[in-house]
Amino acid sequence: MSHIALNSGHKMPTVGMGLWKIPKSVCADQVYEAIKQGYRLLDGACDYANEKETGQGIRRAISEGLVTREDLFITSKLWCTYHAKEHVKPALQKTLGDLQLEYLDLYLVHFPIALKFVPFEERYPPEWSHQPGGPVIPANVPFRDTWEGMEALADDGLVKSIGISNMPGALIYDLLTYARIRPAVHQIEVHPYLIRKQLVDLAHTEGIAVTAYSSFGDTSYHEINMVPTDRSLVHLLKHGVINDIAHRLGKSPAQVLLRWAVQRGCAVIPKSSNPKRLKENLDLFSFELEDADMREIGKLDKNLKFNDPAVYAKRAIWAS
Ligand SMILES: NC(=O)c1ccc[n+]([C@@H]2O[C@H](COP(=O)([O-])OP(=O)(O)OC[C@H]3O[C@@H](n4cnc5c(N)ncnc54)[C@H](OP(=O)(O)O)[C@@H]3O)[C@@H](O)[C@H]2O)c1
Repeated sequence: MSHIALNSGHKMPTVGMGLWKIPKSVCADQVYEAIKQGYRLLDGACDYANEKETGQGIRRAISEGLVTREDLFITSKLWCTYHAKEHVKPALQKTLGDLQLEYLDLYLVHFPIALKFVPFEERYPPEWSHQPGGPVIPANVPFRDTWEGMEALADDGLVKSIGISNMPGALIYDLLTYARIRPAVHQIEVHPYLIRKQLVDLAHTEGIAVTAYSSFGDTSYHEINMVPTDRSLVHLLKHGVINDIAHRLGKSPAQVLLRWAVQRGCAVIPKSSNPKRLKENLDLFSFELEDADMREIGKLDKNLKFNDPAVYAKRAIWAS
């Protein structure tokens, strides 16, 4: 398994499995299957509403001797309603309890957006709106407070590394002025329709690893109606440029897309519920893309973000 060295002194597998939209009913089995197939990084979040089931899958894999806890790299994310400093630790403890784990390898701030607190007993996970279908209510919590809460978790040994997600470059520069512990990872949407050269370069220049999510572009967003219909769009997995390269290399379009991100120095966390595709998505190191292929794929950029809170969470526009 290839790894990326983190500025925290730990190392993160270059390929992991994403857990967003995996239903509770199948999540434990899919986590177990992924570990059995060789996945060591699992990318979860409170917001994915499947942490208990993720924990069950992990527990089964460990109890059957497939892996030890130390072999695994488990990521979760702090939800927007828990940004106040006093809520950061309880939120992590809830996640750890659900996962049946003593520590996380990586805890990310899911979005740089503070929302009004929702107590666990009222609704968990709280999602974007304060009440189902209701308004998004911001909270007056500066990101610095949240980050200090995150740093305290690392001090306590509850998380090995801390990081950020969905953060614009300007806010990263601000964070770096006060961070006692620098973010180890920035997790962002990256695919050939959204290349984000400057944001990726900024992170790498500052020693922050980048994890690219939604590597298959629009693929993940059709099922939740988040692909804009006003833009004519070729399904990224069907794009001629990607398919020509895949055909020449004897690989799948998905492998080409993942390899493109890995070759840019990013980690990837594809989600699949299909055992054959899970296996395929791990096989990224038996081939390379030529410079000309990287350039051709680079020309597909449309600066098109599918996961944009400005679209689906009104009043959260400062995240975009
Ligand atoms: N930090 C954030 O805000 C954030 C936001 C979004 C996502 N993420 C993380 O990133 C992970 C991945 O992103 P994502 O879930 O949006 O989407 P993704 O991994 O880009 O795409 C998943 C979709 O691609 C299909 N697929 C997977 N492997 C395939 C293959 N080899 N060939 C063809 N189709 C394939 C899957 O279908 P099947 O399941 O049927 O294979 C599913 O429909 C998430 O699960 C989550 O952990 C983080």
